[in-house]
Amino acid sequence: MRIDGKRMRTIWLNPDGWSVSIIDQRKLPHLFEIATLQGLDDVARAIEDMAVRGAPLIGATAAYGLALGLRDDPSDAGLAEAVARLAATRPTAINLKWALEAVSDAVRHHVPHVRAEAAYIKAAEIVEADVAVSRGIGEHGLSLLRGVVEANGGNPVNVLTHCNAGWLATIDWGTATAPIYMAHQQGIPVHVWVDETRPRNQGAALTAYELGQEGVSHTLIVDNAGGHMMQRGQVDMCIVGTDRTAANGDVANKIGTYLKALAACDNDVPFYVALPHTTIDWTLARGADIPIEERSGREVTHVSGLSSEGKVTEVQVSALGSHGANPAFDVTPARLVTSLITDRGICAASRDGLLSLFPERAA
Ligand code: MRU
Repeated sequence: MRIDGKRMRTIWLNPDGWSVSIIDQRKLPHLFEIATLQGLDDVARAIEDMAVRGAPLIGATAAYGLALGLRDDPSDAGLAEAVARLAATRPTAINLKWALEAVSDAVRHHVPHVRAEAAYIKAAEIVEADVAVSRGIGEHGLSLLRGVVEANGGNPVNVLTHCNAGWLATIDWGTATAPIYMAHQQGIPVHVWVDETRPRNQGAALTAYELGQEGVSHTLIVDNAGGHMMQRGQVDMCIVGTDRTAANGDVANKIGTYLKALAACDNDVPFYVALPHTTIDWTLARGADIPIEERSGREVTHVSGLSSEGKVTEVQVSALGSHGANPAFDVTPARLVTSLITDRGICAASRDGLLSLFPERAA
């Protein structure tokens, strides 16, 4: 997608053939800065500190992290240590584990001195595959938006989304945003209600920013407004992403997603979850077993933003001495999900629904 009219991706290999660049998402939307990652520790910190975030992008970044780690130590022990370091960065998004396994499988059978090269090749494949997967989600989800506009006599379809499951969370297109961008590009009128998404405000800082850069009509709302707007008929559908989908169709996504699903159910608003196949954890029978990341309470007691002097500043919103609790994700049960939009098609949020699209997993 584009920033200031220029086509960009969220991560790329530099012309030197080994270092990796990312957009530092902690600075957006006020500052656009590119960070260069030169080693395993740079990558691990970028994921932990959320310079990169969003399940698919975390996976792709970790893949390059393994390549960088293998440049320094391609031994079996070096591979195991690099995998352990990266796997510990964030616990909820399953794409991290998936990407580390994919790269490990691609390099393990090689002699050590060619492992780094094999890892770079695999990381590049993961990146390209993610773009194709997001495009697939967009193509399948597009029919849902088009259907609403046709039924509404050509009026815009109003989509509510939570957090950032946009192109900044992937390599390109996004997951929840892919159908939105495709609709916009095809002239289908679409308007997006963007949840601000406290505590880190990925909706306000990232989703609103990237939709604006693409010229997609959108309005920022506080997290508590969605239920009211659904009662008033101002939301035609919700589309959110997921960091891990259990085999029964339960989905873990950014904290607050569950409340939106409850409100959508109460108001007969379709609640769709967009996901790449890399987000399905076939080893987990139900969402209650998904590990939920606990982040620092400081993300709750403090917010950062642009001061009237034009400086990015952090301020405290709570009383001195109050502590914050910060579960970063919640689990929405499959019964509240209207359908899953995957790169292979749309299915019911259930084991049978998922298996209808991924029959090779039946065993
Ligand atoms: O904590 P984050 O910013 O990594 O959480 C991101 C989300 O919850 C996204 O909605 C999810 O990763 C889906 S990404 C396409």
